[in-house]
Amino acid sequence: MTALELCLPDSITPEQFLSDYWQKKPLLIKQGLPQLIGMFEPDDILDLALDEDATARLITQSPTKQTDTPQWQLKKNPLAETDFDNLPEQWTVLVQNLEQWSPELGQLWQAFDFIPQWQRDDIMVSYAPKGGSVGKHYDDYDVFLAQGYGQRRWQLGKFCDKQTEFVEGEPIRIFDDMGEIIFDEILEAGDVLYVPPKLSHFGLAQDDCMTFSFGCRRPNLMQVIDSFADVATNNSELFIPMLLPQEPQASGELQTESIDAITQQLLQLLQSERGADIIREAVCEVVSKRQYDILVPEETMDTDELITALANGATLQADYSNRLLYNQTNEGITLYANGQRLDGLDDTATALLLRLANGAHLTLDDMEGIDLDEAMEWLENGWIWVDYAG
Ligand code: SIN
Ligand code: CO
Repeated sequence: MTALELCLPDSITPEQFLSDYWQKKPLLIKQGLPQLIGMFEPDDILDLALDEDATARLITQSPTKQTDTPQWQLKKNPLAETDFDNLPEQWTVLVQNLEQWSPELGQLWQAFDFIPQWQRDDIMVSYAPKGGSVGKHYDDYDVFLAQGYGQRRWQLGKFCDKQTEFVEGEPIRIFDDMGEIIFDEILEAGDVLYVPPKLSHFGLAQDDCMTFSFGCRRPNLMQVIDSFADVATNNSELFIPMLLPQEPQASGELQTESIDAITQQLLQLLQSERGADIIREAVCEVVSKRQYDILVPEETMDTDELITALANGATLQADYSNRLLYNQTNEGITLYANGQRLDGLDDTATALLLRLANGAHLTLDDMEGIDLDEAMEWLENGWIWVDYAG
């Protein structure tokens, strides 16, 4: 697959999207992702939902609300075929992290290259027959809702906040009041709707319908602090006894002045060069972590098979169910994969991994100067995959 066109209307540049829409307002991108059309059939998704390794949910909705009983039912994986017997008319099955089953689908992230890899979460698919939905709700993160099959009617309403109350007693986060409807359109296969965080939305299947949610993420402060603590714990240079003021005091008291003195020393460290290094490491590690367990590839190839494949026009590409990223400072480039810093890479390997992280399709010629056993390791780790289509 050659480089994809960006999923934006012709009239909107990535800069305009990021300054005017990203995290602010919705955007309909008619035929923003035509490559999705025909990529999957509903049966592919129904089969995948039954896979014991899939992160899947089956959501069903009773036709009417009875007092005292929830209207919605949620069954999480593992799902069995019997879960699909005797379903009510309205239901939806959702499968997360599709890119780990289909690197070809994962490649479609390149249509969103204006969003860096580390801010991408996963591709979730929903399959629903006519009338199915997951209710009126909002999400905490940005999402591009791409119609892959059939049609879905999307309505967008008000922005929500912490005060927005969800319907009590239901197993999923839904509410009744979306406020004024600001968007109401039917999306066809290939159409994409960008929905910013906290904007209420409601998607109703018009017929057999599959929607692919390209979901984004941002680290939260708790994760950054947690990662900081991990990095600091392994850093013997930080074994620095704190300097404390010593004044007469009651033997049972911990004086606020002592806490202030420790705070000052901590802040000084954070603002020092050493502190910046630790923070950088902590941020790089946390944002390069996978959210889902890695699946061990079923089949592996050997080095000769890799050479033959590349000689026949296959390419090596980043596998977007993994996180490969780099940080560049005056000191050089540091690469991270799945939450770990990659040490000991030579310049050739660093340059190639950097190109892969940026979405390059590497050919046999590009691999000149690299020990192919090293590339085999990248394949075995799941960082990259072989695209036979080139
Ligand atoms: C769906 O595909 O039905 C739901 C996706 C979403 O609302 O985020
Ligand atoms: Co949503």
